[in-house]
Amino acid sequence: MRIRRKPGVEEKLLAQTQYVIDPNRLQQTWSHFFTNDHPVHAELGTGKGRFITTLAQRNPDVNYVGVERVPEVLWQCVKKAVDLNLRNVAFLWMDVQDLPSLAHKGKWERIYLNFSDPWPKRRHAKRRLTHPSFLSIYEQLLVPGGEIFLKTDNAGFFEYSLNQVADRDYRLRAITLNLHESEWREDNIMTEYEEKFSKKGQPIYRFEARLRT
Ligand SMILES: C[S@@+](CC[C@H](N)C(=O)[O-])C[C@H]1O[C@@H](n2cnc3c(N)ncnc32)[C@H](O)[C@@H]1O
Repeated sequence: MRIRRKPGVEEKLLAQTQYVIDPNRLQQTWSHFFTNDHPVHAELGTGKGRFITTLAQRNPDVNYVGVERVPEVLWQCVKKAVDLNLRNVAFLWMDVQDLPSLAHKGKWERIYLNFSDPWPKRRHAKRRLTHPSFLSIYEQLLVPGGEIFLKTDNAGFFEYSLNQVADRDYRLRAITLNLHESEWREDNIMTEYEEKFSKKGQPIYRFEARLRT
């Protein structure tokens, strides 16, 4: 995604304290932040936020945390959450690789990885959000039995990701090579990237991986 830098966005983000959490200042646990004990689900690399804000509207008894490192992109999420007056969503403006610093704030039940950058070159494999170094971060953040739900249009990234989780302690299910023609299409919420790729006729791949207890 080519990002046009916009002056003032960082200040606007930090002013939205109800929605944007400065990871260095998160003093409380997630239960304190959301003022309830509902389960927490996270989306890593939210993009413009259609997916997470729609989920939050559909499921008021789940708290959602969106992680995005690009401020101009995150601002699109925050605007959606403000317009919808959502009470069960918050955003971390940070890189996924820094998440271990928050592991003691409370565990997550589910992580969504939607259309993560595939980084097709082998020398960039370490940047893929399903590289073993990232999976071990997620394992610090997830509850026992926690889940990773992944969607992508990229066959190479899908194959790589399936192999990475298969090598670890997960149970795989709901695997499809064509989400929009599968039994899981009913509950599917299209992300901005998903809409773009499926309009071009590309199939969408998906799996669920559940940590064994
Ligand atoms: C290809 S876009 C997909 C956006 C969205 N999930 C969708 O499906 O429309 C990937 C997003 O992940 C973010 N991202 C990639 N790597 C990240 C990282 N290590 N930490 C935080 N955000 C990241 C990018 O800034 C970008 O907004």
